[in-house]
Amino acid sequence: MSNLNTSVDGRWSSHFAYILAATGAAVGLGNIWKFPYIMGENGGGAFVIVYLLCILFIGIPVMMAEVMIGKRGRSTPANAAAKVATESGSSKHWSFLGMSGVVAGFLILSFYVVIAGWAVAYVVHAGSGDFSAIAAAASDSGDHAGKIGEIFSGLLSNPAELITYTTIMVVATVLVLGKGLNKGLEKAVTSLMPALFILLAIIMVYSAIEGHFGEAAAFMFAPDFSKLTVHSVLEALGHAFFTLSLSSGIMMIYGAYLPEGVSIAKTSIWIAICDTVVALMAGLAIYPIVFANGMEPAAGPGLLFQTLPIAFGKMPMGDLFGTVFFVMIVFAAFTSAIALLESATAYLVERRGLARWPAAIVAGSGIWVLSLGTVFSFTGAEWTKMSFFGNGGNFFEVIDFITANIMLPLAGLFTAIFVGWKVKKAHVEKEMQLTGAAMGALMLCLKFIAPIAITIVFAQLVGIISL
Ligand code: PHE
Ligand code: NA
Repeated sequence: MSNLNTSVDGRWSSHFAYILAATGAAVGLGNIWKFPYIMGENGGGAFVIVYLLCILFIGIPVMMAEVMIGKRGRSTPANAAAKVATESGSSKHWSFLGMSGVVAGFLILSFYVVIAGWAVAYVVHAGSGDFSAIAAAASDSGDHAGKIGEIFSGLLSNPAELITYTTIMVVATVLVLGKGLNKGLEKAVTSLMPALFILLAIIMVYSAIEGHFGEAAAFMFAPDFSKLTVHSVLEALGHAFFTLSLSSGIMMIYGAYLPEGVSIAKTSIWIAICDTVVALMAGLAIYPIVFANGMEPAAGPGLLFQTLPIAFGKMPMGDLFGTVFFVMIVFAAFTSAIALLESATAYLVERRGLARWPAAIVAGSGIWVLSLGTVFSFTGAEWTKMSFFGNGGNFFEVIDFITANIMLPLAGLFTAIFVGWKVKKAHVEKEMQLTGAAMGALMLCLKFIAPIAITIVFAQLVGIISL
């Protein structure tokens, strides 16, 4: 905790420093890699609408609730939740809100580092001119998409390479956390976030001109509600939590350092807007290429890596753009990975009495071991195939499902109930600095909309599982 970018009194040095760190934790693979492919798997527009509703009515209020718990408790998540509970006359066992975040963050990071490793591999491919070479060869022989796809399948079938890149990500994350380099990193984020944004805009414009933009826009924004299944709704709900870094302890940790006078509502809304815009831009960059090349929207986790390299191969200075783009993805993933490891590290420091270095190393080692399950899920190893509530899936799919679709919304449900019903209203009002209609709207979401919506989705799912 001591290495966050805080001033002497242990608060964020500015309101801007807080927004940067929280946006850095939010914007990551969830936006650029995951959102586009799960949108494709779930039929596009209708999924997008449900997702946006979840961000608005559940994600933002829960984010505010988490920041508020951290700010009022001024401690690590479990301790903060216990403190906020007991001062309102509730049980100290509400500390489980903090504990579940540690477990969820740990599990998420175990696949996050593997996908970030794919992006590292693509920095190398782009940098060595592979994409333009394939594009040049394909203009004679055709099948550009197929040849680009071979790079991806080649990577997935090479565990040594995957493990190497994953290890690089794990070690780098542990080093930053152990050494407390967050300060320097935040400086980097200051320029990287806007740069990522501009680059994404350039790629988006290029895709729009060269690809099938109309088809992509229709796919993303013309909802076909007949495509919506209970499972898609659960996925949209879970992704709203995942993409905003909720239920992982992170927002409570960051809230613990929030200076008085910073608006929790305004900063949360701003973070959610940035996150959502980046996700939608990623979709608008990827889908015109999908449709122009007759590819499958439901291609799965490889979607990003099988589409944009087609564009990088053809566009002017594409090797350079491609290299810079994947470097930025690695960075965006890195800032999220640091936040994810912070949760487990802070737990080991505060609740288990470890020093910061050993804590980061212990957590990092565990994550590295678990990451092998995801690496071998993509090589297709038999031992990673498991059955899960009657559905088949590999290790990665099961971990992703359990965390994003079950643990995060479930913790969010309890967070909403906790702040909506258990914490004294005066405390909530004081920390949120909201009154009147704004406070009423927030309470409506926390007391009713979020708990009821999440419960209904889960109930439906239970119905499906037991069939
Ligand atoms: N929000 C990050 C993303 O979208 C992932 C993340 C989840 C980071 C939970 C921190 C905590 O990529
Ligand atoms: Na995100």
